[in-house]
Amino acid sequence: MTTVGVSILLLLTVSPAVAQLPRPHDSRDTLTVSATVMEAVLSTEKDPRCSFLLLTDGVTSPNTFRMLKKQLQTPCLFGFFEATEDNKDVDQVIEAAKRLRRNSWHVTVVVVSDDPTFLTSITSKTVRNSLLVAETRLLAVTRLPLSKLWDLQESFALRNAMLILMDETSGSLGCSVYVHLPYRPQGTKALKIASWTPHRGLTLTTQLPLFPDKFTRFLEKPHLVAVSVEFASHNLIVLEDVAAPGGKRITFEGIMETVLKYLSEGLNFTYSYVRPEDGTWGTQNDKGQFSGMMGVMTRGEADIGLGPFALTPIRYGVVDYTYPVDIASMKIMSGRGRAEADPWGFLLPLAPLVWVALLISLSGVLLTFLLLSSYLSPKIFDRRSFKTNASSLIRSLRDVLDDPSKIMIWECGSFTVAYYRAAETGIFTEVADAEREGRVIFNRLAEYPGSIDKLVREGSHVILETESFLLTLMAQDFSQKGQCDFYYSRDGFLSRIYGVTGQKNNPLVPSMSKRILAMSEFGLYDHWRKEVVPNSTSCLSLPTKITVSTSLSVTHLWGLFTILVCGYILSLLVFSLEIFSVCFLKFVSSSLENVTRA
Ligand SMILES: *[C@@H]1O[C@H](CO)[C@@H](O)[C@H](O)[C@H]1NC(C)=O
Repeated sequence: MTTVGVSILLLLTVSPAVAQLPRPHDSRDTLTVSATVMEAVLSTEKDPRCSFLLLTDGVTSPNTFRMLKKQLQTPCLFGFFEATEDNKDVDQVIEAAKRLRRNSWHVTVVVVSDDPTFLTSITSKTVRNSLLVAETRLLAVTRLPLSKLWDLQESFALRNAMLILMDETSGSLGCSVYVHLPYRPQGTKALKIASWTPHRGLTLTTQLPLFPDKFTRFLEKPHLVAVSVEFASHNLIVLEDVAAPGGKRITFEGIMETVLKYLSEGLNFTYSYVRPEDGTWGTQNDKGQFSGMMGVMTRGEADIGLGPFALTPIRYGVVDYTYPVDIASMKIMSGRGRAEADPWGFLLPLAPLVWVALLISLSGVLLTFLLLSSYLSPKIFDRRSFKTNASSLIRSLRDVLDDPSKIMIWECGSFTVAYYRAAETGIFTEVADAEREGRVIFNRLAEYPGSIDKLVREGSHVILETESFLLTLMAQDFSQKGQCDFYYSRDGFLSRIYGVTGQKNNPLVPSMSKRILAMSEFGLYDHWRKEVVPNSTSCLSLPTKITVSTSLSVTHLWGLFTILVCGYILSLLVFSLEIFSVCFLKFVSSSLENVTRA
């Protein structure tokens, strides 16, 4: 949008000014008085594409706006909005300001009022109606004392916001600029970062600049609550702690705990964990409530949803996601089955030259076979008998669905189950059908190691999970048993982005995002994963053939006998063909003789 140098005057006086609070001092309104201070603060905005949206209660005359515009020598876009204390008007003003905000750059919303109710209601509403997004700066200017403004703490702490308090008690005008630090207990005094007097102008009182970045690194280590559940490479640990409620404190050990520790060191915070009762990621029920970790997040009981959570439209509607921690698709894990003797093993000694000779003679046989087969009934070459053997190896979801003996294990309370249940077309409706037929069982992630031992190893069940999770399961099993009993499909489906989550519109999310982006770029996540999961690559790219030295039995040699029997049949055929052709030739020549004789 080209908003450079444009200035517009929007006057939304919806109703005449209603009952006013007594003015603290003289008759000049706050806006006029604060103009000089505001100029000093707003002139720190260097970008010419800036915009200021000024919101006041209904006590300012239109003249004041014009004066102010003239006084603030700035190329920025200006929007003036005036509301009365009536709630409905505030909403209209915010809607109008929101439209302007969408078309503007570097927006600073300035709220000027001496009415504490108005200040509180308009700032909390600007947050709720998303007039303020993470990048928007908020400046409130008032003549009220700090003691009357406790209610602002909550909305100001989580925003890029400053408060200017004007003080005329000592005869001349003086101002203080305050910042509310995030995640401080209710009632914590705001931090004074600058002061202003007519002859000294604006002076910073700390090392912080105006509109300091409060979230890239917390200035005062806050305590945050993270929600997590245990899974294969992320173990729950319960500690005795007299200070904790119930005498027990939970923590975790594993990949995501490492990620959270990294975030806490980078962002300067301490943390504790909560865990949902059901130990799931969480899906939405018919009433719109979420279960599992998503439930904890939507009820506002945690600041960080550690997850990592698959990004889905429903979840994105209620929480914000960081930069992806992982991108993964679902794969199918199945038992590898026992080693089987290769009936064609006797062919192994054959060297390449022998093979060439064999191939040439075989192609001769094949040719005969093909010629014959085109005359034979198709029943002999019934394809099905070959296919069932081949598909005992699971390659795709299709294979699982087509094999009625296979039972699927899906993760309970996961987005995947919600996804296939909601599917209206395609292969996932068949998964829902399979569930109705009793071919699906549900496990929490923590139950998977038990299931793979009892159910998956012997081949009746398969697990559908993300590749990294399956790898972990396989690696853990390998570490225990010393052999690879499982494999997973090459085909993936339901590819999703996985990220850490935070409360909607909370600036904590973009600052965690920056750290997670750095973590991914430096390959830390993959490195940590290898570290927490020993043997994670042991069961990858396994040979499909292994050599075992054992005594042979007749059943192992059926390949040999098949060749023998085939050879006999073939020679019998050739033999009968010979007899047949001789008889046929005799018959033909004798009938020809008869014809010529006749
Ligand atoms: C982190 O928080 C501590 C405790 O409040 C504070 O002393 C320290 O200066 C902070 N660190 C940084 C780098 O801001």
